[in-house]
Amino acid sequence: MQELCLNNMPQLPYAMEEAINRLRVNVNFLGNNIRKIMLVSAMINEGKSTVSMHLWRQMAESGIRSVLLDADLRKSVISDQYDIQIKGSKSVVKHSDRKNLFGTSHYLSGDGPLEEVIYKTQFASGDIIPNFNNIINPSLLLESDRFKDMLDQLADQYRFVFVDAPPLNLVSDGERLGHYCDGAILIVHAGVTSKRLIRNCIGQLERAGCPLLGIVLNRVEGGRPGYYNKHYGKYYYGKYYYGKYYYGNEVPYYSEKK
Ligand SMILES: Nc1ncnc2c1ncn2[C@@H]1O[C@H](COP(=O)(O)OP(=O)(O)O)[C@@H](O)[C@H]1O
Ligand SMILES: [Mg+2]
Repeated sequence: MQELCLNNMPQLPYAMEEAINRLRVNVNFLGNNIRKIMLVSAMINEGKSTVSMHLWRQMAESGIRSVLLDADLRKSVISDQYDIQIKGSKSVVKHSDRKNLFGTSHYLSGDGPLEEVIYKTQFASGDIIPNFNNIINPSLLLESDRFKDMLDQLADQYRFVFVDAPPLNLVSDGERLGHYCDGAILIVHAGVTSKRLIRNCIGQLERAGCPLLGIVLNRVEGGRPGYYNKHYGKYYYGKYYYGKYYYGNEVPYYSEKK
């Protein structure tokens, strides 16, 4: 198994680290049958990837074996945002070299063993399955038996499988994924996502037979303005896709620039 180092793992501001910590404690109390947990939202940019990454990290840091599965195959951010480096190599993986690495979409479209796409990380109890190749139409891959088997195998090996899912309101992938998971945590961008969209999401999860485990109200404005960004230094949390990101081929319902 190869080892990846996530070089750019930002230190969260205290309030957010604490909020994730409370979420981690609550997840621990969900009972032994809840192992495959999808983090989902109505739209892009609500914080699914951020919350799943830090929930996974904290769980691993607390010694509970967890794997993070990057399943938003149209818009994976793990390899972009975290300056990944293969252990033993001298530098971070360049954008042009990523296609040579194996990740979620490779596994789902090929027939190599699952071990090929699971990477150890600097967190002893935390492994990760990143996606290195974004694809335009991953629906067929996500509804395949291979995906279901993958989740089941992971749930045998790890106490928690955190699935960073695609947004529910744009494509149907999220709903399918929900069908294979034990429950979902819904991430809501505070003050931005409408009640109607949230209700739709809850309805979609119900249809998928995926219990709603909880809702995270993310990106709540508070404290001094700029507080969050200041702590993130040059990575400037919060405006990564500012108004110019399009999800796959779809036109977004909203952009952050409102
Ligand atoms: N609590 C937060 N406060 C500030 N910025 C955040 C927060 N959560 C996420 N972000 C930022 O919002 C953007 C979208 O987050 P991301 O996790 O990639 O969303 P998604 O996976 O739902 O598309 C990123 O630039 C991320 O850094
Ligand atoms: Mg994401």
